Amino acid sequence: MSRQPPLVDTHAHLDFHAFDEDREDVLQRAREAGLVAVLIPAVDLTSAHRALHLAETWTQEPSLYVAVGVHPHSVAQAWQGRATLDQMEDLTQHPRVVAIGEIGLDYYRDVTPRSAQWEAFLAQLDLAARKGLPVVLHQRDSMADMLRILEDWVRSLPPDHPRGVLHSFSGGPEDAQRAVELGFAVGITGPVTFKKADQVRQVVAVTPLEHLLVETDAPFLTPHPYRGRRNEPAYVRYVAETIAQIKGVDLTTVAHTTTLHAWRRFRFPQPAPIPASSSGASS
Ligand code: NI
Repeated sequence: MSRQPPLVDTHAHLDFHAFDEDREDVLQRAREAGLVAVLIPAVDLTSAHRALHLAETWTQEPSLYVAVGVHPHSVAQAWQGRATLDQMEDLTQHPRVVAIGEIGLDYYRDVTPRSAQWEAFLAQLDLAARKGLPVVLHQRDSMADMLRILEDWVRSLPPDHPRGVLHSFSGGPEDAQRAVELGFAVGITGPVTFKKADQVRQVVAVTPLEHLLVETDAPFLTPHPYRGRRNEPAYVRYVAETIAQIKGVDLTTVAHTTTLHAWRRFRFPQPAPIPASSSGASS
């Protein structure tokens, strides 16, 4: 049994080819680092099938869950409107699918024309609403549009509908506050460990711990001290440790609170491995 505090990486692309050579070793290192669950967000339907195959065949800890969706970078190649949406809807029946994602808007790279990004994003939000699922959101240089769209989306939902996470949050403290008011979690990734990450550190400082989730975005966004190498779920611990330092609490508090809230937000079907007396258990 692991004596590490339990952690959930709510964003790791374990289906990517970067892990083809040593995926089992990566998962074993994740378990040794205390990870109890990993959420794999698909970037298109092929990626979703690969992720689901992995989730079905890996039977040890960490438990693997999947979000199905078409990433804004993939929309130009992989989005075929209704046909894509129908296949996604079928996949939501799978017991390991807990969310719609990774979906959103990316104005930084503009790999896909913005009108097409919008069409795919709105259609996938609508699917999440119909299926009662939370969303895993990608935003880059698109925060104002993203928050406006989410305001409309939340207004259309029943109050108890799970919202999801703004993954690898890149806005300022006021944007984070607005996201929290709308019921979203703020996803924190490796760059929080970098010396120059003043804005994301400020976001962590002002956002209550129960609204933060820890993520890697593996194989990308590797935290210090492994910056420059391939990222993997075990390194989510460095994100949690940095949050603990910023907030002046211990790692166990960050681990228990973020794990419990990952479980609640994504409604993982297995019981949460959190001690009942754990601090941060209230929300
Ligand atoms: Ni991602």
